[in-house]
Amino acid sequence: MAELPKLLKVTIDNITVEVEAGTSILMAARKIGGDVVPPAMCYYSKLKDSGGKCRTCLVRVAAGSAADPRPMPKLVASCRTNVMDGMVVENITSPTVLEARKGVVEFLLINHPLDCPVCDQAGECDLQDLSYQHGAEATRYEFKRRTFERIDIGPYIQLHMTRCILCFRCVYVADQISKEREHGILDRGDHSQIATYIQESLENQFIGNVIDVCPVGALTDRTFRFKNRVWFTKPVDAHRDCPTCTAKVRLWMRGDDVLRVTARKDQWGEVEDWICNECRFEKKQTSDWTIEGPTSVDRHSVISAGHYKGIQIPKEPFDELMGRKPKLMMDIHKVSEVNKVDLNEINGPATGKTFNGNPHASGINVTDVKEGKGRNFAGTDSTNPNTP
Ligand code: SF4
Ligand code: FES
Repeated sequence: MAELPKLLKVTIDNITVEVEAGTSILMAARKIGGDVVPPAMCYYSKLKDSGGKCRTCLVRVAAGSAADPRPMPKLVASCRTNVMDGMVVENITSPTVLEARKGVVEFLLINHPLDCPVCDQAGECDLQDLSYQHGAEATRYEFKRRTFERIDIGPYIQLHMTRCILCFRCVYVADQISKEREHGILDRGDHSQIATYIQESLENQFIGNVIDVCPVGALTDRTFRFKNRVWFTKPVDAHRDCPTCTAKVRLWMRGDDVLRVTARKDQWGEVEDWICNECRFEKKQTSDWTIEGPTSVDRHSVISAGHYKGIQIPKEPFDELMGRKPKLMMDIHKVSEVNKVDLNEINGPATGKTFNGNPHASGINVTDVKEGKGRNFAGTDSTNPNTP
């Protein structure tokens, strides 16, 4: 009988798990799940050699192994460090790790524009989530951000390098999934950029998958750009008979319109089955697909905002208590005095102009002192709280 592989014990944030030799700390943490799992912006378990670029997955190794329990001198990238038997790892239990992650996010945001309101990736962007969790409110960067022109690479994909964080995932997809590498990262340091050089189009049947692996909005689907916000769409799982791929997809629908087709993603945001360009870009009719049912969306995701699976309509307590619909409802606006108060006559908090040294002082806010219609004595618009 073949000998079973030896399992290694690793403790991450005080939770012990057994994994096979050769497992990375990140994958061991995924086995535990929950908050213990470090974020990953460049690692992709389905892409060979990915990881080690973004440093968001840094963790502290408090004990290297049972045989050598010394801590590792520096924080390590959990996606590229394999576990040892008896290893002790700290992720969210280490203030040093959290501080370092905040620094990494600040670095990633040095050149990345804060254009979430107009970016198609908003609502499903890993960097957006990361900056909400670990980002600082302001940047210390004083220099000009690097910017690039948008480039249409082929009929279906648009590259906006300004948003790229150089994670290399799309390059690995082109290398490993499409097997026809046509683009890569050119130049070094601040000049690095994803390019097809002479703007060759990426036309391979599976190249559309670069859109799904891109953790930010640098590679977007031209057939979906600016059509809708993702949280207004309803994702449903569907499939079809396709000679090229498994065709197990997610349709992003608004009413009966299929606005976008993507691959299905797992709980780590990774594609489950790569899909072909025909399924992704050309099958936009409901009749092209067999619909399986609504996608399960994590309730923490903004996409769940418009989601209808398992929805519970709240009961009307009055109807239930009275056993019938109430006949009379009071109109609060008719009887309340609140709506008759002129808000301009209420003293606001003391301002720079009215503060007299008394910390409890109150005063008329200068922006409320009206002279003429909608103007204060400074001549600015008094109805706008941001004007002086
Ligand atoms: S375009 Fe997207 S997937 Fe490609 S390197 Fe940049 S961020 Fe990564
Ligand atoms: S996910 Fe580990 S370095 Fe990027």
